[in-house]
Amino acid sequence: MLVDQLGRPLRDLRISVTDRCNLRCTYCMPAEVFGPDYAFLPRHDLLSFEEIARLARLFVALGVRKLRLTGGEPTLRRDLPDLVARLAGLEGVQDVAMTTNGLLLPRLAPALKAAGLRRVTVSLDSLDPELFGRMNGLGTHPQRVLDGIEAALQAGLGVKINTVVQRGVNDAGLRELWLNLRDLAPVRFIEFMDVGNHNGWNLESVVPSREVLARLSAGGQEERFTAVTPTYRGEVATRHRSEGGHEVGLISSVTAPFCGDCSRARLSAVGSLYTCLFAAAGTDLRAPLRAGATDETLLALISGIWQARADRYSEERGAQSRPLKVEMSHIGG
Ligand code: GTP
Ligand code: 5AD
Ligand code: SF4
Ligand code: SF4
Repeated sequence: MLVDQLGRPLRDLRISVTDRCNLRCTYCMPAEVFGPDYAFLPRHDLLSFEEIARLARLFVALGVRKLRLTGGEPTLRRDLPDLVARLAGLEGVQDVAMTTNGLLLPRLAPALKAAGLRRVTVSLDSLDPELFGRMNGLGTHPQRVLDGIEAALQAGLGVKINTVVQRGVNDAGLRELWLNLRDLAPVRFIEFMDVGNHNGWNLESVVPSREVLARLSAGGQEERFTAVTPTYRGEVATRHRSEGGHEVGLISSVTAPFCGDCSRARLSAVGSLYTCLFAAAGTDLRAPLRAGATDETLLALISGIWQARADRYSEERGAQSRPLKVEMSHIGG
């Protein structure tokens, strides 16, 4: 089995299909940086669906079982269901999922489901229209995300909700958010991370997961939680179930990093391979791909990168963020 320097296998591939987004979340693509003049990638720089599917097939041959589409916002990529169909059709793939802001799901959910997508994770940070509008940078109303969640459920897709928690921004409304959303789908609260170089991260703005859980519990008897056993080794979220039977996930990448089991590789929209969300640089797979490399050559290249991998950024971070990391919109979180 292919393992890295710390004995970790390669199991998940997260594939970014575009660097564009129809929101400007302050912690990810702040509008001051990603403004009207921002130079997004030209179309021909992006991997084609053929190229993505070929690389995905090679990753599957090396042990990958789960594929996740990300962005930017993956639904902005034209004809996305065609890509999903190619990926879902690869032998050995057990799961094809997508991380999305949900805005285009009313239009796309049925086609994505029909193409073989199993589940979506939808980001939603607040139900307060004014606050959510500020956090997403464009004044977009939370109802539009709720419509997307509804469309995904209607289409038969599995749904989870991701909420990034920032102290002094949306932490006061966590319990209300959870009470409103918990009947729709499991909510996962993510500790604000220092991804990219523009989000002004500092340790004070992180609300530790144990504090999030305490806030959710500060209610009636129903809200006492018990921990749920992880469904797979290296599960990103630790899950808890309330006495009322609702599940909540906590993604504690700052206070309880999960690098020890990290089996995730990330492929950027231009075909660079990153072995950590916080890497400064990736390895270009597009150049050899477009120069006519054989499967054997590409397999050797990818295996070599994975075998050399020793990343454990979240465990090493401490209180200081490292400069010059890849932008989240390039590799999709
Ligand atoms: P499941 O297959 O549903 O368990 O998906 P997941 O939790 O791996 O995927 P998702 O994209 O929903 O991940 C949730 C969030 O956790 C991401 O958007 C990131 O913010 C964070 N995250 C995921 N993977 C990593 C990782 O490898 N390292 C760190 N530090 N954070 C991660
Ligand atoms: N910290 C934590 N989570 C983040 N996400 C984006 N930026 C950050 C950050 N700085 C989340 C999004 C989405 C997923 C792609 O990653 O909200 O759920
Ligand atoms: Fe877009 Fe998601 Fe980044 Fe928000 S977090 S700007 S929705 S890619
Ligand atoms: Fe994996 Fe890097 Fe995240 Fe650690 S910080 S869990 S090594 S992606």
